[in-house]
Amino acid sequence: MYAITGITGKVGGVVARHLLSAGQRVRAVVRDAHKGRFWSDLGCEVAIAEMEDAAALTRSFSGVTGVFILPPSNFDPGPGFPEAKAVISAVRQALDATDPPKVVCLSTIGVQAVKSNLLSQRTLMEEALSTLPLPVTFLRPAWFMENVSWDIDQAREQGVVSCFLQPLDKAVPMVATADVGRVGAELLLQDWGGKRVVELEGPDWVTPNEIASELTKALRRPVRAEVVPRENWAAIFRAQGMRDPIPRIQMLDGFNEGWIRFQGNGAIQMKGNTSLAGVIQKLVG
Ligand SMILES: NC(=O)c1ccc[n+]([C@@H]2O[C@H](COP(=O)([O-])OP(=O)(O)OC[C@H]3O[C@@H](n4cnc5c(N)ncnc54)[C@H](OP(=O)(O)O)[C@@H]3O)[C@@H](O)[C@H]2O)c1
Repeated sequence: MYAITGITGKVGGVVARHLLSAGQRVRAVVRDAHKGRFWSDLGCEVAIAEMEDAAALTRSFSGVTGVFILPPSNFDPGPGFPEAKAVISAVRQALDATDPPKVVCLSTIGVQAVKSNLLSQRTLMEEALSTLPLPVTFLRPAWFMENVSWDIDQAREQGVVSCFLQPLDKAVPMVATADVGRVGAELLLQDWGGKRVVELEGPDWVTPNEIASELTKALRRPVRAEVVPRENWAAIFRAQGMRDPIPRIQMLDGFNEGWIRFQGNGAIQMKGNTSLAGVIQKLVG
């Protein structure tokens, strides 16, 4: 039995489906009982837990062969990342209490960066779980290709994609969530000792211009990539409702300046096979 958090999302859902296809039993850890129905219909056990609730997570992780930890995204964290710290504390307490045979924790590219940024939330998670006395794998994927979903309406309506990744011809490592979930399941099924880091990218690095070109094909209308001037980012993010756009801006700076990157040395390097074209076709369809 494998306990899968974030199962109602993109990556967690793929992890669970791969495990079910491999004949494994899955405990779906959901925060909304209604969403659990879908998974119980597929033959999963269902456990209800918020990621900030140590007692509920302890019940969810009891008696399993392995646990998949998916820390929730937070693009607008408070100063010092209190929301991520609440999740980290609950997850650590639950893992201490249940002592599962193995854990795979979804992390991110660039977690080793020393400059603070949005991804520092995952740095804190890795630090907290790296002292667990059990086998832990940190799966560090590249930028998700599915982030293009934020651009599709604008591309369809205006023929433009407003880009924060810059310059427009600079390739960035990206990966499809289908590959992240599949690799997450494969890693969970392995046996290993100690801590390991797996860095995962897609078949090719991707430029913003290539995203526009794939959107042109998928939407059957011309789409061009356009730089959003950095001096406008804070106002744009605030207008979208963010309280503090700085951590997100720092993350974007990290990708654009190259200090958010794969660690390389000491990490296991893996490549997915899902193409950007395939992901965009699906998102547009
Ligand atoms: N986007 C990127 O480019 C990128 C790159 C590298 C790594 N990552 C990492 O990928 C992860 C996001 O994966 P994803 O795209 O698959 O996520 P997603 O589709 O947004 O799904 C998030 C999942 O987490 C659950 N969840 C959210 N808050 C929760 C809470 N407080 N308690 C319990 N469950 C909660 C959601 O449940 P509900 O259905 O109930 O909402 C859902 O199952 C993050 O850890 C992020 O750091 C992202």
